[in-house]
Amino acid sequence: MKNITVIGAGTMGNGIAHTFAQKNFNVNLVDISADSLEKAIATIGKNLDRMVKKEKITETEKMNTLAKISTYTDINSGVKGADLVVEAATENIDLKLKIFKQLDEICDANTLLATNTSSISITKIAAVTARPTQVIGMHFMNPVPVMKLVEVIRGYATSNEVTQRVMEMSRTLGKSPVEVNDYPGFVANRILMPMINESIETLFQGVAGVEEIDTVMMLGMAHPMGPLHLADFIGLDVCLSILEVMHDGFGNPKYAPNPLLVNMVMAGKLGIKSGEGFYDYSEGPRNKKVATQFIK
Ligand SMILES: NC(=O)c1ccc[n+]([C@@H]2O[C@H](COP(=O)([O-])OP(=O)(O)OC[C@H]3O[C@@H](n4cnc5c(N)ncnc54)[C@H](O)[C@@H]3O)[C@@H](O)[C@H]2O)c1
Repeated sequence: MKNITVIGAGTMGNGIAHTFAQKNFNVNLVDISADSLEKAIATIGKNLDRMVKKEKITETEKMNTLAKISTYTDINSGVKGADLVVEAATENIDLKLKIFKQLDEICDANTLLATNTSSISITKIAAVTARPTQVIGMHFMNPVPVMKLVEVIRGYATSNEVTQRVMEMSRTLGKSPVEVNDYPGFVANRILMPMINESIETLFQGVAGVEEIDTVMMLGMAHPMGPLHLADFIGLDVCLSILEVMHDGFGNPKYAPNPLLVNMVMAGKLGIKSGEGFYDYSEGPRNKKVATQFIK
């Protein structure tokens, strides 16, 4: 596999395109928004500059990586000759089903179709195509060029051969892939989200404050970031939606989102991206202080 198409040039799409291009794949990056494509190339350039500064790559490698990426707003041109398409468009089920239906119609018969979805069923996405054996989850972590894990998710019909090819391809990228089956939350979010939800429950019941909860988990469990800070980083709306998928999918009350999380999302307090969540980021994402709501 040499030719990769990435659909969606947002946070994850630009990181995925960067990672493939740096390993010498030809990358077509597709987005409906020309503005997103422009920002993505600027972000990739900045991230590569940082790597040059830290002497992780040379200036020539940076230029070669950038030269490997072409951008498209037209999906038909963008998928021409693709061996693998990695979809990283907005997390919306109707949108993903529409994109996969279209990909199935316009891609070569042997093209593999992967999705970077955090929570949508791979089996459901595969079912709108005529090639469900060739549809798979490739769940990269943010920031993609840095994080080692790729959760490789087998849909109900994904073939062994396709799974092995995607595992191998992930290793070529310098990642450590882990194979998992397609059930709500897969593995990463199935374990992470209940922990975040429980941290919110602990805060909600007044057992401890925001900084105290995060400090316990950082200093006691060697987590690099406390769970409430991590929830702000991921986005509280994203956390809520993943918990809802697990709650619906398993019908188990243990996944029910805490009412404080629901309230915060309704109030538009979404974490770093909105400027406030459990912490206040009005002085920048690196200068967090506990949000006034949570100061005793
Ligand atoms: N952000 C994370 O930490 C993270 C981690 C793992 C997985 N994911 C998953 O990755 C995917 C992308 O998330 P993100 O955070 O990069 O989102 P984002 O909002 O930053 O970017 C989404 C991009 O998709 C584009 N888009 C929308 N419709 C499109 C279409 N029809 N064709 C092409 N492009 C289209 C948008 O213009 C936007 O640029 C989601 O499925 C999300 O669940 C996100």
